[in-house]
Amino acid sequence: KTKRISIPDLMGYKGKKKIASLTAYIAPIARLLDESQDMILIGDSTAMVGYAMPNTLAITVDQMAAHAAAVVRATQRACILVDMPFGSYQESPEQAFRNAAHILAVSGAAGVKMEGGSALAATTRFLVDRGVPVLAHVGLMPQYVNTMGGFKAQGMSEEAAERIFQDALAHEKAGAFGLVLEGVAEELARRITDAVAIPTIGIGASPDCDGQILVTEDILGLSGDRIPKFAKPFGDAAGVIRHAAAQYAAEVREGQFPTLDHCFGVKKKS
Ligand code: KIV
Ligand code: NA
Repeated sequence: KTKRISIPDLMGYKGKKKIASLTAYIAPIARLLDESQDMILIGDSTAMVGYAMPNTLAITVDQMAAHAAAVVRATQRACILVDMPFGSYQESPEQAFRNAAHILAVSGAAGVKMEGGSALAATTRFLVDRGVPVLAHVGLMPQYVNTMGGFKAQGMSEEAAERIFQDALAHEKAGAFGLVLEGVAEELARRITDAVAIPTIGIGASPDCDGQILVTEDILGLSGDRIPKFAKPFGDAAGVIRHAAAQYAAEVREGQFPTLDHCFGVKKKS
């Protein structure tokens, strides 16, 4: 049995090797990512890519826990992290701990990711002190879609950049094991990466981050026409699936599938 990459292992990569990370929420994808990724995130982007919701706000703790459990069962090597969904941690550190503990207990994942600026640092501290590793997500935080008025790059003005810089430092000080930097000015991502001792994982951030993460569907052509600027197509799973499905349908309609080879109890002619 392969030993899983642990959170201290990931922390030790800083300055030595890049952390490669993708999202997954179902077993077939998780199984395929396990051999190449250091970390797999059950992102609340599952709400959008998996459930066709317009944003991430409506996915629940139980949905996240169930998807995380599937990903843990389907993998043996990658470190598995789970997003805390909207409304499951912002109310109080106690609420955050209760929901994080439930997600980790149900799924067997190694830790959680939470979106939030300095205001959430006390929650990070509360969880870390009680055995829940926290990856803090700053910059563009999709759960703040209504506050931002859409998904917009963050930290473009000097004041905004300074605020996000302080958010990052606050979570590091509070014991976060790493930082996800999403949709921020490139220079800011570099500045944070240099300033903190914990790994930064970029998504629309900077090549100089300590690692990168993307939504798997975005690199495989599986997220429809909603591809963010920071994603890059690495493969055409959409083409593969479309072709196979069309071929199957054609063979069913033409009576080419199934053949007797696919049937039970067929008497062999001698
Ligand atoms: O929900 C998600 O997929 C994420 C990342 C891509 C960072 O939060
Ligand atoms: Na997320």
